[in-house]
Amino acid sequence: MSKYVAFEAPSNIAFVKYWGKYGRQYPLNPSISMTLNKCTTKCEIEYEIIKDHGIIQSFLFEESENDKFKHRIQKFLDSIHDVYPLAKDLVLKIKTSNSFPHSAGIASSASAMAALCSCLAEIERSDNIKKRSSYLARLASGSACRSIFPKYAIWGESEFVDSSNEYAISFDNIHENFTNLNDSVLIVSSEEKAVSSSQGHALMNAHFYREGRLNQAVDNFRVMLNALKSGNYEDFGQILENEALSLHALMMSSYPAFTLLKPESLKLIELIQAFRKSNNLPCYFTIDAGPNIHLIYPKFIEAEVHNFLDQECSPYIQNIIHDEIGNGPLKL
Ligand code: PMV
Repeated sequence: MSKYVAFEAPSNIAFVKYWGKYGRQYPLNPSISMTLNKCTTKCEIEYEIIKDHGIIQSFLFEESENDKFKHRIQKFLDSIHDVYPLAKDLVLKIKTSNSFPHSAGIASSASAMAALCSCLAEIERSDNIKKRSSYLARLASGSACRSIFPKYAIWGESEFVDSSNEYAISFDNIHENFTNLNDSVLIVSSEEKAVSSSQGHALMNAHFYREGRLNQAVDNFRVMLNALKSGNYEDFGQILENEALSLHALMMSSYPAFTLLKPESLKLIELIQAFRKSNNLPCYFTIDAGPNIHLIYPKFIEAEVHNFLDQECSPYIQNIIHDEIGNGPLKL
């Protein structure tokens, strides 16, 4: 008799970025992210436990068999036998789907791996499901480990909090200014990235600015935590934008160099900075490993920001996903 488990898990947006890793997917620096609400992956698993017969029998993505994803997940399961022995015995039928279009230019690996690993921890009947899901998600896709927690999550050792390289933790010492943030994702291109984030992480190993980046990340992390605790929008915004631009500067200065930003990304950055200056509103951008701009702002200025997007930004945007702070994975 097969059993059933299902989770829906969100994506997350990093405020201080994880960029560069070592060993078994440990981060070079601590990172902090906000968990999203609407950009989610649903993962449903039918499973049987048959000793030493572990295999993925089928993998449906958006209702169709997907061999690429099936092989990726099979490879991941094969790689964790030492830390998740049950993988050897799991006969799986997996079904996944995203709440956002696959080609929207949004990274789906964080939500996908968070949903899958929540299921794996649940099947194992872990005592501490969140910690265990986050640990497994880290092995699957680094930043995914932060999607397990509501609101804000920290991953990576730091002298400022009791965090770990092995899994993420929840960060809830947040000023009310930051309890209701929106993330409007401005999609400027939905093309597949020319360089994957794994390749980008690898280029940090011999990066000329590696030491400088690590010092900068630690310092930015400290200031970001203080801003979130004290409610300081200005410090928050300064670090948020510095992290986004630094991430892309590191890409542009690696060997080989690569550029993920598009002309529209730069135009939007200019417009956002001008809008903020002339209206004196706490509205700042961040960017992941791609060309799309995440506009981060408190809910109380939503009307002004939406008006600005309609009036000034629409020629440069293909699509917008209006997301917001969220509560982490949901067992279905
Ligand atoms: O988890 P990965 O390997 O896809 O790396 C994600 C890296 C960034 O999205 C650029 C930053 C981050 O911390 O999420």
